[in-house]
Amino acid sequence: MIPDRVVEEVRARADIVGVIGEFVQLKKAGKDFRGLSPFKKEKTPSFYVVPAKAFFHDFSSGESGDVFSFLMKHQGMSFVDAVKYVGARCGVEVREVRRDKRGDDPWRPYHEASAYAAAYFRERLWEWEGGKGARDYLEGRGIDREAGERFGLGYAPDEWEAFREAAAVHGLDEGILLELGLVKKSENRERPYDAFRNRIVFPIESVTGRVLAFGGRLLGPSGKGAPKYLNSPESPIFHKGEELYGLGWARNHIRRRGAALLVEGFMDAVSLAAVGIRNAVAPLGTSVTEKHAKLLRQYTTQVRILFDSDPAGLRASFRAADILLAQGLQASVVTLPAGEDPDSVARSGGAEAVQAFLAQAVDVLDRKIAILEERDYFSSIDSTRKALDRLLPTLRAVTDPRQRDIYLATVAERTGVRIDTLEHELREARAPRPGPPRRSAPVRQRPAPRFHGLGVERQLLLLLVKHRDWIDKAAERIGPADLEDAGYRAIFEELINDPELTAPPEETMPEAVRHFEDLMSDREVPEPAESIFEDAVRQIENTALDRRLEALDAEIARSDEADTLRLLRQKQDLIKEKQSRGSDWRRSAHRAAGNPQRQGEGAP
Ligand code: UTP
Ligand code: MN
Repeated sequence: MIPDRVVEEVRARADIVGVIGEFVQLKKAGKDFRGLSPFKKEKTPSFYVVPAKAFFHDFSSGESGDVFSFLMKHQGMSFVDAVKYVGARCGVEVREVRRDKRGDDPWRPYHEASAYAAAYFRERLWEWEGGKGARDYLEGRGIDREAGERFGLGYAPDEWEAFREAAAVHGLDEGILLELGLVKKSENRERPYDAFRNRIVFPIESVTGRVLAFGGRLLGPSGKGAPKYLNSPESPIFHKGEELYGLGWARNHIRRRGAALLVEGFMDAVSLAAVGIRNAVAPLGTSVTEKHAKLLRQYTTQVRILFDSDPAGLRASFRAADILLAQGLQASVVTLPAGEDPDSVARSGGAEAVQAFLAQAVDVLDRKIAILEERDYFSSIDSTRKALDRLLPTLRAVTDPRQRDIYLATVAERTGVRIDTLEHELREARAPRPGPPRRSAPVRQRPAPRFHGLGVERQLLLLLVKHRDWIDKAAERIGPADLEDAGYRAIFEELINDPELTAPPEETMPEAVRHFEDLMSDREVPEPAESIFEDAVRQIENTALDRRLEALDAEIARSDEADTLRLLRQKQDLIKEKQSRGSDWRRSAHRAAGNPQRQGEGAP
């Protein structure tokens, strides 16, 4: 067999487009490559290679996979031969080794070193004379030995090389300790030194209970160079945004209770467990990520967020909630009194006090509305409009259809905006456009217009202003959202509303007013109207399609594999649509030029 590590290296280095390109003629389609299916006869290319995801998918045969499976399926190679074949092309030496149980896991030495460190710190806390201060500290914070042991807590002595020396005696490789961030190097010190010193140590475990990393709470005052909490750096076995502290212990309680508590810190999770509330987990000094949400979704659909109640904590709660909602979870927010955190509430009032706050958890949308109400946002039309802007990101984040319906109804009721108007607004904001991820973009913000296409938008609007009977026809083919320029977009909307319009309504944006006056005063009457119309509409359609394709590419690059297929399918549909529009236009151009319409396929 070939060691996994080598397979992964070959996979990572492989030029999948180059390898598959030896067998299939590929053409660039955005960020991906497209060609005729090598597995099934077809006329329209539907075979895709997605370099960003290092995989291929063939819509006509349904085959998909990575570079190795391509070679296995297409060339009938064995897996080993496929890896060797690709390895030879990307400069990785591939040698088979005899199957060796210990060699199976390339990260084994990292896990071993981490497990050793956890055991070392544990022993220092509970069994060592010098650990008394740490034991007293925990006791003072309401963590008894049982709770402390359940979380595998330990103590890193107030010494520079104690751990390093113990690890060396144990025969651990120093390079690995450095990679794990357990020891560090510095210019000022001759030898590497212990990263965790005079700290309560919280081992961070995987769901299956393997120690991956550590968090350390300083005993005594924090200061320059000595932060209150220290976390292990990213390492081959630790990726912050992908782990939740406490999930290994909490997951069964989360299942049983039907809800997870999301708290900010190690201490919150441990203190809650110490008073018997065992379904709490914490992100590790980072904001909540999509991966966190997906992890939680394996155990529950309900998440209660218990962050600090200061403005920063509240903002973090809302951000976290949007990410949870996007993964189909329900999110509610628990409000604690100012200056308190779950740990302090648990310590002073026990489980009962915490439960009382949990009972008052409020769905995140209701919480947002309540805050807006407190600030008097619904007192005027103008501020209601602003309130709506603040609620839209949450509406947009929800993916669960029932949840979405409930949210729409709630917002419609509170703002007095009709549900279909809200839906329209959401679609508008959602219409894929290139640019930064939409999640954080304010509703009304659009990417800066790209000017190269605007001439044609002016052409079309000029035509519509001069020939009002073309407005309906235009509206059948394109929507306002297909126009890039905000001013022309607004005018087009107004014209659809009122084809007789001679002056823009009062609230129209200044840019649109200027455009409108400019168009009205233009003496030119575009002729021949039909071909100008056709040309402009087609260009706008195509630009809009291109923009959607670009946005899809960006989305594909961010998506996970399951979504990628769905998005690729959309992309394939769009490309087909674009092609068919191209041929429609040819036919109508012929017609406009007085040529008899040709039957059959007008290939683009
Ligand atoms: P807090 O400062 O709220 O600490 O940080 P806490 O949880 O209340 O801790 P105690 O009660 O003082 O012991 C919350 C979380 O933010 C991260 C840690 O993950 C911590 O648990 N943090 C905080 C850091 O990573 N570094 C710091 O210096 C401080
Ligand atoms: Mn605290």
